[in-house]
Amino acid sequence: VELASANTLGLPCRAERFLATDDVATIRDALRQAVVRDWPLTVLGGGSNLVVQPWLPGLTLQPTFADLRLEEAGQGDVLVHAGAGLNWHALVEALAERNLWGIENLALIPGHVGAAPIQNIGAYGVELADVFERVHLLHLEDGREAILGRQECAFGYRDSVFKHALENRVVITRLVLRVSRRARPRLDYGDLARRLGATPTAREVVAAVSAVRREKLPDPAVLGNAGSFFKNPVVSAERARALLERHPQMPHFPLDDGGVKLAAGWLIDQCGLKGLREGQVGVHDRQALVLVHHGGGSAAELLALARRVVDTVQARFGVVLEQEPRLMGRMTR
Ligand code: EPU
Repeated sequence: VELASANTLGLPCRAERFLATDDVATIRDALRQAVVRDWPLTVLGGGSNLVVQPWLPGLTLQPTFADLRLEEAGQGDVLVHAGAGLNWHALVEALAERNLWGIENLALIPGHVGAAPIQNIGAYGVELADVFERVHLLHLEDGREAILGRQECAFGYRDSVFKHALENRVVITRLVLRVSRRARPRLDYGDLARRLGATPTAREVVAAVSAVRREKLPDPAVLGNAGSFFKNPVVSAERARALLERHPQMPHFPLDDGGVKLAAGWLIDQCGLKGLREGQVGVHDRQALVLVHHGGGSAAELLALARRVVDTVQARFGVVLEQEPRLMGRMTR
């Protein structure tokens, strides 16, 4: 099955077997077969945070659970039970329409609800962990169901247990979020406050965040990309001081643990790589943290460009950038 349209970078990819379903029994049957026949398993969400290589061997599963249920939880809180296959932004809009607060700053993030916990999606001062209640999943090895709470998910910056102990070991079926009827706009990031009145509605925040994103981030439907291609690196306070002596205008954000987070986009930009094009891939011309695929390129080309970016930033600043989107599949059949 051809999956180029199933990853937002638009990289060519074929899956040996592909199953999209919202039926738990069907998933369990497929998992049993996979064990018996020794098929490698891949779970696909919206494909928006992946670099897929040309061949996905074995079985590729895409959960399409699209149920949405709201449950009153007292004191203005509402629990949102959302199927893993729902489009994330559609969920953001659905909650904002109902004047429910919590994920409005996460507007326009591409991908499915089920993928949100994996990298703990975050933007404009909010991350999924802030509203996360629990997640329902099936273990790939035997199809057993489990529910994990916030502690067990071990959320960090663009990180969770699903990138470590549970990497490639579960399929997420449903997410439960705790949102609120009480207005609680969070507008400290960038110029969000300037774009909005003193008491914006959740829909107005969604509109403002969407506008900011559209100005900088390419629409994957128009230009292939996977959002930020690198994490913002964290360096020691000493290292940050040394860098600031040479680059006083460098953006930097001290963290509670003493580390200092730097802006990878700024570092790449300073190296003069913004807007660079190499063959069919390149560095986005409005946000250097985003690598783009112009069409007709390959994962190999993109990874070579990523290597060049990492090497250039390391040579200039002594900071090693870490790739954010997950690598999937194989180069050859
Ligand atoms: N900057 C530059 N040149 C660039 C890009 C950025 O100088 O080409 C500077 C900006 O001027 C600013 C700083 O770097 O001073 C930070 O830039 P920005 O506010 O655009 O955010 P970011 O750190 O580049 C992060 C997330 C984004 C998220 C935004 C807003 C990561 C890896 N990226 O980007 O997340 O939308 O903050 O919260 O943490 C994603 O993960 O896919 C993603 C888009």
